[in-house]
Amino acid sequence: MSYNLLKGKTGIIFGALDEKSIAWRTALRCHAEGASLILTNAPVALRMGEINKLSEAVKAPVIGADVTNMDDLKKLFEGSMKHFNAKIDFVLHSVGMSINVRKGRQYTDLDYGFNQKTLDISAMSLHRVLQTAWELDAINEWGSVVALTYIAAQRVFPDYSEMADAKALLDSVARSFGYHYGVRKKVRINTVSQSPTRTTAGSGVKGFDGFIAYADKMSPLGNASGDECAAYCAVLFSDLTRMVTMQNLFHDGGFSLTGVTESIIQQMEK
Ligand SMILES: NC(=O)c1ccc[n+]([C@@H]2O[C@H](COP(=O)([O-])OP(=O)(O)OC[C@H]3O[C@@H](n4cnc5c(N)ncnc54)[C@H](O)[C@@H]3O)[C@@H](O)[C@H]2O)c1
Repeated sequence: MSYNLLKGKTGIIFGALDEKSIAWRTALRCHAEGASLILTNAPVALRMGEINKLSEAVKAPVIGADVTNMDDLKKLFEGSMKHFNAKIDFVLHSVGMSINVRKGRQYTDLDYGFNQKTLDISAMSLHRVLQTAWELDAINEWGSVVALTYIAAQRVFPDYSEMADAKALLDSVARSFGYHYGVRKKVRINTVSQSPTRTTAGSGVKGFDGFIAYADKMSPLGNASGDECAAYCAVLFSDLTRMVTMQNLFHDGGFSLTGVTESIIQQMEK
């Protein structure tokens, strides 16, 4: 069911790789809620071709951009404003990648070259996106920016490795830029801390099956799905949440505030 929450709004969605991607689910939801969209991803992801299916489904052009490349980001925002003949109302940053995890390097054995790339792609890219928009004055007043994050920014999940540091940095950028953009343009910036979700990026974490089952048992409502995350993002892009900014918002079925559940205790007693 949709509510026309985003009727007449324009948005840019970063990070739809395949139909499991949180960005993919969010694009479908935003389209159903009446938004007009631009889709973007790294050129290497576009070469997979999957995004063309989404592009057709939500009637949105695709503009490639590597989030670590300022020229790409400038072209993306300029191209989007030209396409809409208007500024942007909302942006979803749904981008993450750990080079050390990919290369099988443990947290205690990081390659710092890889680490810098991880931090740039997964965290400073939010700053790059926001600074580009700021310089081009590309976001409308009362616009909304959401970035996806994970609770490893606050608590230790050993196999999340350097991505924990990337998420802590991402959350901090959202807060700090949220201050400046709020004062200047009433633009709000929040992070959504999502339950573990079966996507390409999610499955990269070692022992993901055990991890996702544990989180499910540790959450009074169970794990939140990608579609449920998409719905939450749509609400955050809507005019119903105009005074929410600089927050890290847990969308995790209650995991973040649960000490233990009966289901876990029963498991331990076996
Ligand atoms: N899946 C989970 O369990 C989970 C939980 C909490 C938060 N998140 C976060 O959600 C976001 C989306 O991840 P997902 O789970 O949908 O996985 P995904 O693999 O579908 O999405 C990650 C996206 O990042 C893009 N990307 C990587 N490098 C890029 C670059 N240089 N330039 C532009 N784009 C680039 C990829 O192409 C991909 O589309 C990430 O920030 C992730 O950390 C995921």
